[in-house]
Amino acid sequence: MKKLTSIQSNLSGTIQVPGDKSISHRSIMFAAVAKGTTRVSNFLLGADCLSTISCFQKMGVMIDQHGDEIIIQGKGWDSLSEPTDILDVGNSGTTTRLLMGILAGRPFHSVIIGDHSIAKRPMNRVSNPLQQMGAQIDGREFGNYTPISIRGGNLKAISYQMPVASAQVKSAILLAGLQADGVTTVEEMRTTRDHTERMIRHFGGEIEQLGKVIKVQGGQTLQATEVRVPSDISSAAFFMVAAAIVPNSELILPNVGLNKTRAGIIEVMERMGASIELIQDEASSLLEPTGTIKVSYSSLQGVEIGGDLIPRLIDEIPIIALLATQAEGKTVIKDAEELKVKETNRIDTVVQELTTLGANIEATPDGMIICGATPLSGGNVSSHGDHRIGMMLSIASLICENPIFLEDAEAIDVSYPSFFQDLDKLVK
Ligand code: S3P
Repeated sequence: MKKLTSIQSNLSGTIQVPGDKSISHRSIMFAAVAKGTTRVSNFLLGADCLSTISCFQKMGVMIDQHGDEIIIQGKGWDSLSEPTDILDVGNSGTTTRLLMGILAGRPFHSVIIGDHSIAKRPMNRVSNPLQQMGAQIDGREFGNYTPISIRGGNLKAISYQMPVASAQVKSAILLAGLQADGVTTVEEMRTTRDHTERMIRHFGGEIEQLGKVIKVQGGQTLQATEVRVPSDISSAAFFMVAAAIVPNSELILPNVGLNKTRAGIIEVMERMGASIELIQDEASSLLEPTGTIKVSYSSLQGVEIGGDLIPRLIDEIPIIALLATQAEGKTVIKDAEELKVKETNRIDTVVQELTTLGANIEATPDGMIICGATPLSGGNVSSHGDHRIGMMLSIASLICENPIFLEDAEAIDVSYPSFFQDLDKLVK
């Protein structure tokens, strides 16, 4: 149980948050199947990304770590070897689903397990298209839940219309498509983060994108490169909201990834009336656009959030819900059913924990409705083992009248091990 007390003053200063989680995972995966030595800098040393490293080491890939720089000796798709051990993905949905896409094309047997949360997350959204391509996949409830076993190899290309808006599903199919016979086509229902598409190009591969339709030719060889991981906008989001709700605060966040398919929170904060300034880096890495975000305290208005915006801020909804408790009027979040299958059911966990703190918030079948502004009280809350719920509650504690007691704060290590140290540095 971690005791967190309200802030006596304000937040100010500059903080470079750790590397992007989605991009860190992909950097290891692409480097492992490319040819040559890839150097990755600003890699996120969170538990999720370390799970990805360990899975590839178990398939014989040489990976060295020096601080947040990772060096991967890639020897091509065929160099991955049949693991003698189970591949443990820990809490990481991205590792599980993207790994399934890679393993679908490898001519060997492997077994994936994860923690209690992973065991509840649906995998048939990935198993189904990969089975259609020819992979043999089994698991609890016919391939829907871990432990999942895969015997891959000899894939044929498919045309697939995605029934869910999920970058993980799209990425798994594209990774399998790179190994298949023919051209694989994926059609998205809503545009999701495009880090995999960018990585394919960065590693010398070819991929065609026409609106929501993406095509990839099978049999491509990828070449090693250098990857500079931008700071994670999903981690920056906690400090952006903190600066917006703690009176007299101002925070500067450099080197943040500003990919449009991820940066929906900026648009929402601007619409709510937050004081937010963006300075795009001219020398953004070729891979992803980056920039500096400056946020200061201001009064806020409720907004409606739904439709195509949802995939662009899906991981930020817990912290946006906290922001909405401090905005005047009603905030409606809709079209966000996917929240139910994240690390926790984030509609339930957000509503339950913010209600405990005194917020006026109710769950709907596809999101939540928040009426503000309400003062927050304090009390006993839990991360429910979900890193983003843990960080949202920690930011809430800054403006609570009484201390909060946070159960399972360790869950935060999944994506931001230095979260509390970084927060401490900004408290004046
Ligand atoms: C991710 C995609 C999203 C996101 C997750 C990371 C990725 O999941 O919530 O944190 O790296 O591709 P879905 O694809 O399930 O929406």
